[in-house]
Amino acid sequence: MLKEKVEKALVKQIQVEEHSSRIYMAMASWCELKGFSGAAQFLYGHSDEERMHMTKLIKYVNDKGGHAVLLDLKAPDANYKSLLDVFEKILKHEEFVTSSINELYEVAFNEKDFTTAQFLQWYIQEQIEEESVFKSILDKFRLAGNEQGGLFHLDKELAGMTTTMPAPASAE
Ligand code: FEO
Repeated sequence: MLKEKVEKALVKQIQVEEHSSRIYMAMASWCELKGFSGAAQFLYGHSDEERMHMTKLIKYVNDKGGHAVLLDLKAPDANYKSLLDVFEKILKHEEFVTSSINELYEVAFNEKDFTTAQFLQWYIQEQIEEESVFKSILDKFRLAGNEQGGLFHLDKELAGMTTTMPAPASAE
């Protein structure tokens, strides 16, 4: 049985992951409209990944005798200044997700819920992976500068990219 504090923190993380999924869906939609089809493809895929992160948490909470409820969400931004603006916002958001996962881990650890702490290891690794991918994409933006050609190639490259680590069996 999950302790109340741990369940509450897990439910909050479900909200964070669901919000992330919607943010990336909104960004994908903007990219598609602006003709950045590679970035749109990448972000539609990334939105799906966030949904998987959410589902995995929901299943864990329910499996451990809790009730995974969904909380209110604010609508994500619909418009962005540029493709660079999109990716700068993503890295900032992922840094926030990392701090949220770390806080959740701290709650589980302080409550001596080592099963949940162990379960969260995958999320900690996934955040390292995601931050590293988004930092490298921003580096490529810096290299491309303001050149249209560079941006075109970067968009093409994004189409084939993914940030996912192998999905855990419970999320499939
Ligand atoms: Fe599920 Fe990108 O954090």
